[in-house]
Amino acid sequence: MPEQRRSLLVTSALPYANGSIHLGHLVEYIQTDIWVRFQKMRGHDCTYVCADDAHGTPIMLRARQEGITPEELIARVSVEHQADFADFLIGFDHYSSTHSDENRELAELIYTRNRDAGHIETRTITQLYDPEKEMFLPDRFIKGECPRCGAPDQYGDSCEVCGATYSPTELKNPVSAISGATPVEKESLHYFFKLADFEPMLKKWTAAGHLQEEVANKLGEWFREGLREWDISRDAPYFGFEIPDAPGKYFYVWLDAPIGYLASFRQYCQRSGKDFDAYWKPDSNAEVYHFIGKDIIYFHALFWPAMLTGAGLRTPTAIFAHGFLTVNGQKMSKSRGTFIKARTYLEHLQPEYLRYYFAAKLGSGVDDLDLSLEDFVARVNSDLVGKVVNIASRCAGFIHKRFEGRLSAALEQEELYTTFVAAGTEIARLYEAREYGHAMREIMALADVANQYIDEQKPWVLARQEGAGRQVQAVCSLGLNLFRVLMTYLTPVLPAMSEKVREFLQLASMRWDDIAEPLLDHRIGKFQPLMTRIEADAVEAMVEASRENLEAAPAAAISGPLAEEPIAETISFEDFARLDLRIVRIVRAEEVPGADKLLRLTLDLGGETRNVFAGIKSAYRPEELEGRLTVMVANLAPRKMRFGVSEGMVLAAGPGGSDLFILEPHQGAQPGMRVK
Ligand code: 2FM
Ligand code: ZN
Repeated sequence: MPEQRRSLLVTSALPYANGSIHLGHLVEYIQTDIWVRFQKMRGHDCTYVCADDAHGTPIMLRARQEGITPEELIARVSVEHQADFADFLIGFDHYSSTHSDENRELAELIYTRNRDAGHIETRTITQLYDPEKEMFLPDRFIKGECPRCGAPDQYGDSCEVCGATYSPTELKNPVSAISGATPVEKESLHYFFKLADFEPMLKKWTAAGHLQEEVANKLGEWFREGLREWDISRDAPYFGFEIPDAPGKYFYVWLDAPIGYLASFRQYCQRSGKDFDAYWKPDSNAEVYHFIGKDIIYFHALFWPAMLTGAGLRTPTAIFAHGFLTVNGQKMSKSRGTFIKARTYLEHLQPEYLRYYFAAKLGSGVDDLDLSLEDFVARVNSDLVGKVVNIASRCAGFIHKRFEGRLSAALEQEELYTTFVAAGTEIARLYEAREYGHAMREIMALADVANQYIDEQKPWVLARQEGAGRQVQAVCSLGLNLFRVLMTYLTPVLPAMSEKVREFLQLASMRWDDIAEPLLDHRIGKFQPLMTRIEADAVEAMVEASRENLEAAPAAAISGPLAEEPIAETISFEDFARLDLRIVRIVRAEEVPGADKLLRLTLDLGGETRNVFAGIKSAYRPEELEGRLTVMVANLAPRKMRFGVSEGMVLAAGPGGSDLFILEPHQGAQPGMRVK
């Protein structure tokens, strides 16, 4: 029985409008695009929308830094994002921006409905305020000393050294990362969404199969911790939408971001004549799916269904979360050249190589996915070029040269063709379940069978035998029919190659059900190269082009991930001269039980020994450090930390994580020498 035609609305998370798309983002867009293309080729009515996430403080500040308006910034970034997506063959039906009239209207509607139903309350809170820039400071724009361990240079929400979380007003000696000014405490009225009002509904919804199992379990933990009210307002200056009944107050970017899904779809409905309300009314038969990264589950699985319910709209059919991308087994890194932007990739490699590789590694869970560059080259070359394209290139020439491009009138081994078509049921199930890796393995196993058939039949030997002409045609015709089935299965992953195959085989379409009928007595076109091998040199060149020289990084990048942070308040030369920087030898390095980020270093200053805790565990194994020379601030007052007293500080630079480098003096340096 044919499957009933479904109406689906699918989204990927909206990328922020102040940064470039990189390979980490592309995991999600490729994952979603494959699913959407699969649904479409199965004959369903599937709409894929997205938009730039255009609001918030970082975007406002970035525009200021560039000396342009936020509107100019988001317009420019939108063009870049859309070009990157198009070149990666991400087939959005509509791409918008959260800074649109439709989004403003829908945000106001959803807010006022929740407000009128009693789900919003107001309360005065105290926050840190930058008196120079005259603005409240988001947590990430305040730095100071950790209230627990005293580590300097920590953000306003958590300490990277001891892992403490706190409120920014608890930071010691806070400074504004925007102006370098000392923030003051200031009161302001804020608007809160009462998430706890929706607890019964959310508990039921969570248990009703809308979420992956591991995500539902995570929500269970959050329910046990208790649902807290959510601060949805921000004070001016802010780039966003003003709250209707609250002049000078703006919706927090995360309030209107998911509403951007609806707004983008509304624009699409206006363009296409689709019925918006039919998708969003509470009893809608349409299906709504959000693909997201695992870091934004809280927003999508709690706030979002609650806000929708509070506004009398339907909730999503499912939320599909995925893991993060690592490259060569590690976090993407600018210094290693593995923080690769979409555009840099495209300057060196074909988009379908990556689409296939991600597909081959993707499953339905939230596990992280590794792009091993060596494996990438080997796998794409072996599977796509060595197995799939090989079938066509071995058969097409004979059909073209000897049979005027005509396939035989009957299948040589009908059962082989039937087996290939029958495998489509399981492959479709795997696509539907987002088990793409498994689907790719099934398809490649079929490709092996097809190649084996050709190897056994040896059309190149038959071609030299008198009277075996028809047999050559029959073998190559079956080979090309099997190739067509495989390329049909690969169409969601390789849409451009599939289109070339459609032209080569002279077909009207490459829909899933088309393969029920084999191509018999059918004229095909001339074979054209479908895909070339990846050259390892191209991958190396891409990595080199992505590598950022950290020595050339601005001073503000030292000791923190905020590379774009403005340089803080100046100090005098006398202040600088007071620092006693010394060469030291690391005689011992050890882990600190209970500390995620710290190593305990025993340092030799040329006679004197010091004990220093350094937040460099993410970048070094203790044994790598022992015996090395580095530089320390030797006259820093000892500080009592949770794990002991730290008697100084070693200097390191880098964006953070595994990219943190202790300073290493030239050979010939001796412990105890002064650095300046
Ligand atoms: O985390 C992010 O990159 C957000 N810009 C995602 C927003 S998704 C949706 F809610 F709009
Ligand atoms: Zn701390």
